[in-house]
This record gives sequence, C-alpha cells and structure tokens, in this order.
Amino acid sequence: MTKEMKITPWEVEGDVDYGKLVKEFGTSPISDKIRKKIEKCHPLLRRGIYFSHRDFDKWLEAHEKGKRVSVITGRGPSEKMHLGHLVPFLVAKSLQEEFNCEVFIPVSDDEKFYVKENLNFESSMKFSEDNILDLIALGFKQGKTFIFEDFVYTDIYKYAARIAKRITYSEAKAVFGLKPENNIGWSFYPAMQAAHILFPQFMRGKHISVVPVGIDQDPFIRLTRDIATGKDFNFEKPAALHAKFVPSLTGDAKMSSSEGSQIFLSDTEKEVENKIKKYAFSGGQNTIEEHRKHGGNPEKDVSFQYLKFFFEPNDEKLKKIHDDYKSGKLLTSELKQILIEKINAFLKEHQEKKRLAKKQVEKFLIR
Ligand code: TRP
Repeated sequence: MTKEMKITPWEVEGDVDYGKLVKEFGTSPISDKIRKKIEKCHPLLRRGIYFSHRDFDKWLEAHEKGKRVSVITGRGPSEKMHLGHLVPFLVAKSLQEEFNCEVFIPVSDDEKFYVKENLNFESSMKFSEDNILDLIALGFKQGKTFIFEDFVYTDIYKYAARIAKRITYSEAKAVFGLKPENNIGWSFYPAMQAAHILFPQFMRGKHISVVPVGIDQDPFIRLTRDIATGKDFNFEKPAALHAKFVPSLTGDAKMSSSEGSQIFLSDTEKEVENKIKKYAFSGGQNTIEEHRKHGGNPEKDVSFQYLKFFFEPNDEKLKKIHDDYKSGKLLTSELKQILIEKINAFLKEHQEKKRLAKKQVEKFLIR
C-alpha cells in the first residue's frame, strides 16, 4: 500500500515522489546544460542524487563572469556521522575544488537539542565536536572553509534576530508544519537556519551562495529567499541544489539509523564487512544458478548504488560492474566484496585524517 507523502525538515513519511516534489515546491530539474558544467564534480552531483535546483544556473553564470560565489551547507549534529550524512559535504567540497570558492558550514546543535526529545545539552555539544572533526577530515581547504557551532558562535544570534522579526508565527507554522505540542525552540530555529544561509553575505557582502541540501530542507530555502530581498536586506537570493534521500543499506529510501542500516564513519573493517554481507539489499537472484541465468538488477541493488554515488568515480569501471551484474557474470557476493574493499579503504584514510583533524580545528572554526 502506498502511504501519502509528507515531507518537512523534521519528518519524512510515505513513498517519496521526486517529480511531484519538484512541482509542489516549484523548483527546477537539473538541465543537461547545467550537467555539462558540473561534469567533473562528485558522482553525487553528476550521477543524479542531486536532481533539482533553484538558481544554480545563475550561480554558475556569476562564477563564469568572475564574480564571487560561495557554498553554504550545514550539519544537524544529532548522532555520530554515517555515510548518508556526507552527501552535501562531499558536494560542497567538490564545488570548492572545481570553482575555487569559500565554503561555510554551520553546525546546528541548537536545532537538534530542541527537536530530539532525548538529546540533552551536553550531548548535543559533544556530537558537534565529534562531527566537526569528521567534516574537517573530508579535506576542505584551510583558509577557505569556515565552520561554526550555534552554541559556540553565539554572534549568529544577532543575525537570526533580524531575520526572526520578519517571520510571522503563522508563516513558520505553515512552512514547517509546526504543531501545538512542539516547544517554542522549533518556532525560532528557522530564523537561525536562515541566518546560516545568509551568513556568507553577512560576512562578505552581497553575492550568490548555493546551498546543497536534501530536498526536505527546501522550506528553509524558500523562506530565506523571500527574506534575502525583503525590506531589511539587500542580498542575493541564495541558490539551492536538492538531493534525493540516499537509500540506507537495507534499501529503505529514508534516512533512518536503525540497527544495521547505516555504515558509520567510525565503523571497523569487520563491522563494515558484516553489515554489507548481512544487510545490504541485493538486486540479485535467489540462487547462483538463477543469477547466472537471469542476472541481477543494479538499479535495486544497494551495493551497486553505493558504488555509483560514492565509491567508483571511474565511469568505465562502473559500467563494467553494472553490465557484469546485469548479465549474471558478477555475483552478489562478489559485488559486495568490491564495495566492502572500497568502503574500508575510504574509512581507513578518513579515520586517520580525523585523528589529525584534532590539531586543525582552530584553523577552521569561527568563534
Ligand atoms: N537542518 C539541517 C539538518 O538537519 C542542518 C543545517 C543547519 C543546514 N544549518 C543549515 C543545512 C544550513 C543547510 C543550510 O540536516
């Protein structure tokens, strides 16, 4: 049975129909013309996880004309980070490398503190600290990347207050689906996130920033775009790049972190191997004989999807894996082995860089 789709920044319900979202939200699909200009960017961008945008064409044009452009995307530190959480940051880093621009990364510990009933104040700050090391470990450029935590960089409040004054309660309620039982932190937080999104312009003056985010975050973008050109601010409307939800290991389209459904960045080699073998949803047949005869379905196979979006940037190699799996030449166990090795190589390096990141924090943090 299909459940009716309901999407807010804090809740995803039912089967997600991306085509319908583009229509409902009034965003634009990513055109071939745009795709050509991001051919060298991360697979997440060029292979379709990012499917919709607002004004990204204008962002690219501004860059072509030699004007300042920037990237801003944030992390809600509700837990330790898993692969799915990396999506906007891998894209931000790739845009930084390709277009040589500044990247701003707010960490909304206040948001998660308000929204997660069981997350206490100390833990929300602990997760910020830990997640920030993961972000630095991704290899953003020093001196061109600025990370800040809402509970530490409290100056952000001055910007949020100016924005809060321009959002009515009924508007916030309608845009974010606020409920009477929600604490009032929920109703103020949108002003904080709008301040994050306009932060590059508060810092550097008027210019166009792009926000790579999950499509569920678009309400924040809409709200911020209205405020950017409203009576208090003479800013550019921020652009956006919208991602689909990356499937969990079990093939669930939503971002759940239930047992075995995610690879955490802190997982050991053995944990990765066990999780992939046990949980990674397979597009293969029930027996080897049947698989050899009918082949597998790479579109449904989560291991193939992870190679496509994260771990096999080489188009020819990916195509060979795709074709071999589809023809039955490559077995599910063999496909899983390829992924296990790729993930473990990535995590080994990541975990080492995360250790080193402890010494670099001050170079990235705004206080
Ligand atoms: N709300 C986002 C999340 O839960 C995190 C976030 C905070 C963010 N500030 C942002 C995302 C600014 C984009 C832009 O994942």
